[in-house]
Amino acid sequence: MNIAVIGLQWGDEGKGKIIDYLSANKDIIVRFSGGNNAGHTVVINGKKFIFHLIPSGILRENKICAIGNGVVVDPKVLLEEINYLKKEGINVSPENLKVSLYAHIIMPYHRAMDAIREEGLSKKIGTTKRGIGPCYMDKVARCGLRMADLINPKIFYEKLNEVLQEKNILFERIYGKLAFSFDDIYKEYSYYGKLLKPYVCDLVEFLYDNKKKSFLFEGAQGTFLDIDFGTYPYVTSSSTLSTNALLGSGLGFLKINKIIGVAKGYTTRVGEGPFPTEIKDKLKDYFLEKGKEFGSTTGRPRRCGWLDLVLLKRAIILNNVSSIILTKLDVLDNLKKIKVCVGYKKNSKILNNFPVDLSEIKPVYKELLGWNTSIEGIDKFYKLPQKTKEYINFIEEYLNCPINYISVGEKRFDVIKK
Ligand code: GDP
Ligand code: IMO
Ligand code: MG
Repeated sequence: MNIAVIGLQWGDEGKGKIIDYLSANKDIIVRFSGGNNAGHTVVINGKKFIFHLIPSGILRENKICAIGNGVVVDPKVLLEEINYLKKEGINVSPENLKVSLYAHIIMPYHRAMDAIREEGLSKKIGTTKRGIGPCYMDKVARCGLRMADLINPKIFYEKLNEVLQEKNILFERIYGKLAFSFDDIYKEYSYYGKLLKPYVCDLVEFLYDNKKKSFLFEGAQGTFLDIDFGTYPYVTSSSTLSTNALLGSGLGFLKINKIIGVAKGYTTRVGEGPFPTEIKDKLKDYFLEKGKEFGSTTGRPRRCGWLDLVLLKRAIILNNVSSIILTKLDVLDNLKKIKVCVGYKKNSKILNNFPVDLSEIKPVYKELLGWNTSIEGIDKFYKLPQKTKEYINFIEEYLNCPINYISVGEKRFDVIKK
């Protein structure tokens, strides 16, 4: 059985932990979108692993992890991640990590461009400044460099030379910045190419040969950061939805049997953009502290708010979600009352359709009673307090979608099957 695991909110739903959990029963784990803007956390025996590019399935033995064509790869970051995992005693080798020849690579001018655009030349998005957007821009503008180029010194020399001429005109004449040195970049990146070459392959062929194995597609970011259906322009530059899993890995021949949506028991978002259920009073500090809501990639405090069921309903449709995993429910432990958004209002009128712009939206809340006790580490559904079950059942009924697992702590095994 092949599954995809997708974030249903604005990212950081706990996908890393869930992917680690579910990959126990899968053979091949594939990342299909985004880049090192992602930060996926797994906590095992008190040790925290944060993944930016490599699927968290790498922590398990005898799995193959793949980075698909839909991912934008910063070669330096990938090498650092490989080295970091090796130092931690994790087996990472060209046998269990495969990178697509077709994946685009993030270059220094992409990171520079990301920073320039964020610093005031255009609308501030609050990006991770990792060069993600500019790299996807070049992919679409047909002037990107791919893994296939990086690992071939002669081709890389020619293509970089061509691209850099245009980039330097832009940086010097338009942005008034210093030009990039061809020699420096060529030297640095051909070294990365040499080190990464053993990992790079035609993933389509490799995965086709392995099509009888079971696949897990690792989503990155979240549904409302999607370039098409997210809160545009406050989104990332790739398609984060389940429909991109096959395109972003070249696996059109495969069927995904189940799409598992991951949602936090409340909502968070990092960066700019509308957020109808955002909490702005001092209660936000409770979520920040109890939920340790600081970005895994940039360390920025995340904006926190109540669970938004209108948003989740939309995410279920967009991704064709089969079932939901609800995470971080333990973070709600000390609240006497918990609000859930069950409708949207604009200019005091209840909306009957999902709005294209969330900026003027006011939430309609249903208030539920909290459980006011710790549920961290509880291992069976029946052992949960009655009020916790009521919260879960309310969400399930509203969404008309089964909640199959509940995560009640950051540790690997803090997962309850419902
Ligand atoms: P991802 O980007 O979706 O993989 O999520 P992140 O790893 O960026 O952020 C989720 C954070 O919540 C991480 O620090 C996890 O260790 C933590 N986490 C995941 N599930 C739970 C849970 O059920 N309870 C608590 N308290 N923390 C969790
Ligand atoms: P994971 O996979 C949360 C956000 C950024 C910013 C916007 C655009 O860990 O859930 P970008 O650098 O992609 O151009 O930034 O998207 N963003 C994320 N927020 N989790 C992520 O990934 C994110 N990846 C990008 O904060 O608002
Ligand atoms: Mg994250």
